[in-house]
Amino acid sequence: MVDVILGLQWGDEGKGKIVDYFAPQYDIIARFQGGPNAGHTLYVDNKKVVLHQIPSGIFHQNAINIIGNGVVLDPVTLKRECETVAAFGIDVKKNLFISQRTNLIVPTHRALDKASEQQKGEGKIGSTLKGIGPSYMDKTGRNALRVGDIVSKSFTTQYIKLRLKHQRLLDNFHFMDDIGEWEEEFFEAVDFLRTLNIVNGEYFINEEINKGKKVLAEGAQGSMLDIDFGTFPFVTSSNTISAGVCTGLGVAPQKINEVLGVTKAYCTRVGSGPFPTELEDSTGDDLRKLGSEFGATTGRPRRCGWIDLVALKYTVMLNGVTKVIMTKADVLDSFKELNVCVGYSIGGERTDKVPFQLMQANMKPEYKMFDGWNTDTTALKDSNDLPAEMQQYINYINQYIQAPVSYVSNGPQREQIIKI
Ligand code: GDP
Ligand code: IMO
Ligand code: MG
Repeated sequence: MVDVILGLQWGDEGKGKIVDYFAPQYDIIARFQGGPNAGHTLYVDNKKVVLHQIPSGIFHQNAINIIGNGVVLDPVTLKRECETVAAFGIDVKKNLFISQRTNLIVPTHRALDKASEQQKGEGKIGSTLKGIGPSYMDKTGRNALRVGDIVSKSFTTQYIKLRLKHQRLLDNFHFMDDIGEWEEEFFEAVDFLRTLNIVNGEYFINEEINKGKKVLAEGAQGSMLDIDFGTFPFVTSSNTISAGVCTGLGVAPQKINEVLGVTKAYCTRVGSGPFPTELEDSTGDDLRKLGSEFGATTGRPRRCGWIDLVALKYTVMLNGVTKVIMTKADVLDSFKELNVCVGYSIGGERTDKVPFQLMQANMKPEYKMFDGWNTDTTALKDSNDLPAEMQQYINYINQYIQAPVSYVSNGPQREQIIKI
């Protein structure tokens, strides 16, 4: 069977830490979508590691880690990351596998990302500029190069053909940056990629499932960044919701068991786009400071605000979430009052549904206020010791979103998590 861990907000919910925590219960950890736009933070031997391409189960020697066909892979980032994990004694040649059908990010994808964002000006998406949009465009446009292609004798010819196509687009954008150095790095990294385990991912994973092995699918980004259901066009270019597991790994829907949705106890977003509960005041600054809310991939300050239960109920529905994991609850430890968004008022009309366009000048979030717990919760281990105010906060959320908060994460370290 396959269980899934994915983000229910706009990304950075703490998925990396949660996957690392649950990984020992699984035989296989698999990334099914996204690419190096992801930044998943975990702590190993008290050292902080940020993973972009490699699944967050890599530090558990007995687990197999797979990069699925739904991912877009930048060999340069992958090579760098393999060096990082090797420094911890991890042998990627033993427990990292990559699907042949995984699409490659080439240097011109990064250039096209940059050129496209520059052209959008004020309306830019706030992309991580890792080439995600252009590489998924080449997938659906049926132009892409895939990992399986790198073993072909004609790979360089195929690359040059694609590069020429991209060059015409870049010329249209009047993009002049020299990417010669990126290309040199790219070909070195492709040589390295050839030395890794490249497999037929869909057969590999199904054969393991049939042997009774347990698979954990690791999502990147968050459901509100989903290409279909997120705050379009301010989204990423893949299906980040649980449905993406089937297409991104080649597993059938009836193989999916638990869907563990991760949400912060508040909310953040990095990049442009609507964010109804954003706090552009000192409370927002406090959340950013106390939660160290700076992008793990780009270092950009994250926009911060209260938890949005309208959006959360929506993403619980889209994903079929069976359990919710609430992270960064400790960040709220010192707040006197907490707000949760329970509805939107649009032009005076109230709704508890996410509308087609979330960005509307006449939209206001409606809040319910809770007392803060004003207690340091970072050392707590038992759910019976959670402050009464936190329990009230959680109970209300459970009831509103119709899914149970089953774990509370109370710090960035692996062991800082409480089962409820
Ligand atoms: P991801 O992309 O979903 O894996 O999340 P990121 O790694 O981008 O961002 C989450 C940040 O919060 C990282 O710096 C984590 O170390 C940190 N973090 C995760 N869980 C907790 C928690 O429960 N409390 C606190 N204070 N920090 C956490
Ligand atoms: P993890 O997996 C937070 C955001 C970008 C931008 C939009 C599109 O760490 O949660 P893209 O580079 O995909 O074209 O950017 O999506 N974004 C993320 N925000 N966490 C992420 O990943 C993100 N990946 C992309 O900031 O607004
Ligand atoms: Mg992140």
